[in-house]
Formats: sequence, C-alpha cells, structure tokens
Amino acid sequence: MTDHARHLDAHYDAPAERGGQSLTTRLRAAFREAGRDPDRLTLDEVAGIDQLHLGGRRASRSLAALGGLAPGSRVLDVGCGTGGASRLLAEEFGAEVTGLDITAAFVEVAGWLSRATGLDDRTRFLCADAAHTPLADGAFDAVWCQHALMNMPDIAAVLAEWQRLLVPGGTLLLHEVVAGGDPSPLRLPVPWARRVETSHLRSRHALEALLAEGGFAPVVVQDVTESALAWRRKHSRREGEGAPSGPALPGPALIFGEVFAEMGRNLRDNLAADRVRILEGVWRRA
Ligand SMILES: C[S@@+](CC[C@H](N)C(=O)[O-])C[C@H]1O[C@@H](n2cnc3c(N)ncnc32)[C@H](O)[C@@H]1O
Repeated sequence: MTDHARHLDAHYDAPAERGGQSLTTRLRAAFREAGRDPDRLTLDEVAGIDQLHLGGRRASRSLAALGGLAPGSRVLDVGCGTGGASRLLAEEFGAEVTGLDITAAFVEVAGWLSRATGLDDRTRFLCADAAHTPLADGAFDAVWCQHALMNMPDIAAVLAEWQRLLVPGGTLLLHEVVAGGDPSPLRLPVPWARRVETSHLRSRHALEALLAEGGFAPVVVQDVTESALAWRRKHSRREGEGAPSGPALPGPALIFGEVFAEMGRNLRDNLAADRVRILEGVWRRA
C-alpha cells in the first residue's frame, strides 16, 4: 500500500483503523437498529451515508444536467466513496457506471448498497488509485469526480489517466473543493482531512491551468460556493441540535466518528472565510 493510500485509509476508515468493527458491519447494524433490512434499502434511506460532498443529491443532479449526460452513457465515477453519485446517475440518468475508489472500506459499502437498492446491474465498483487503473483505453464516455481531487497529490497523473480512459470528445464533470483567496491555513479537521497530509487544495486558476495542460477544454465552469455554504450552514445547525429521539437512519458520523460535526463546522467556517471555494464544471477531452 502506498503512503497516499495509507493516509486516506487512516482518514476515511479511522474507526476501523483504530481497531473497531468494519465500516460495513457498523452500518449494517445501524440500519437494523433503525428498523430497516440492510439488504433491502431505498435510495432515500441510504442518502445519509452515500453523499460525501456539499449539496447532497441536488448538487449531483445539477452537475449531471450541466453535462447533459445521455442515457446509456458509460461513466467512470472517480473517488466514488460509498457510491451515491454512481447510483444516482444509474437510476435518474440511465448511465452505466463504474465507481472507483482507493479506500477499500468504501468500495465494499458501495457494492453492498447497490445490491440492497437493486442497482447492482447498472453500477460496479473497484478499488484502485485514480492515477493507475486497470481499466481499458477509451472505455468511458464521461468521467465524473465529486470532491475527490483535493485528496490527490498528483493531478497530472490522474488527468493523463482520464485522457486514456475517455473516448475522444468525452466529457469530464467536476464538482470540487479548491483553495480560496485567503491563504491562511485551513481550519482542520475537515471532511476530507484531519491532517495536512491528505489535503491537496489548488486554486481555481491552478486547477484550470492543469486541466488545459492535460488536454481538457472548458465547456462551462461556475463557482457554486454561495449555495454550498448555505447548505453547509443548514446542516451544521441540524447537527448542533443533537440526536433525534428514536433510532435515526445512519449518517456521516457513523463513517467519520463523532468528530464529523466539528468537520462540518470547520468546513462552513473555511467557506465563509474564503479559505476554500467550490467549483462545478464540464470539460471536453480533445
Ligand atoms: C470526500 S470523498 C467523496 C466521495 C464521493 N465522490 C462523494 O461525493 O460522495 C473523497 C473520496 O476520494 C477518494 N480518493 C482520494 N484519492 C483517491 C485516489 N487517488 N484514487 C481513488 N480514490 C481516491 C477517497 O477514498 C474518498 O472516497
């Protein structure tokens, strides 16, 4: 395992890394406690644990619409996490999705949730580093990446891999966290990093330059920080209200641990102080 993969495991699979039960075991038990059968779930029931980005499902729908994803598109969901966007693109946009993630615990959960929601015929998942995948040349019409580039130290290698995997004229859809105008250090922990080792933020300008050098031409790019901040403020208020009475459906605290509420508040404050911004956009492979 590389240092990069080790740092990410220590971050995204922290409770299990510290000797606890596996993520799948914890989440399955939590669904049972909430009175649900963990092998028969709806997309609404899993939304608390499969949307690890600002804006939830609405943000994914907005990006898919921006990119004009056609039914039957072969999509690679890079840094798919627990697979929420992969399932949404399959269910609502008729895509055939391959989700790829470096965190083995997430790939296991993604496969289980797709089986439990009846979407395993249109989604599949594999554990790999986005910079070196075992996938065939030109296997995809679109590459999708939500809130994952800021975890990746070598973007040039990742973009070269996307060039190889996309058909000519293929689409790249990004919804990403970038560095803002305030250069002071990030308030940590945030949902993608407890320590600086797993945070690789670039400015919008630097990211756009890397994309141009990597052979991706912009179609539409927009700053969506305002709506992301409004969403994060609303969720931080809810998280501050404490646990609801009765067993709740699993949420991100089951993945990240109790520190998740602090991560959310720090992200809110980093957004408000312009230490980070949120970008969504569509690029075309040459
Ligand atoms: C904040 S999560 C977002 C997950 C998902 N895209 C979502 O929005 O729900 C970032 C994900 O990127 C994955 N990731 C980071 N670096 C990666 C790499 N080099 N290759 C593949 N996955 C990576 C992490 O394991 C993590 O699941």
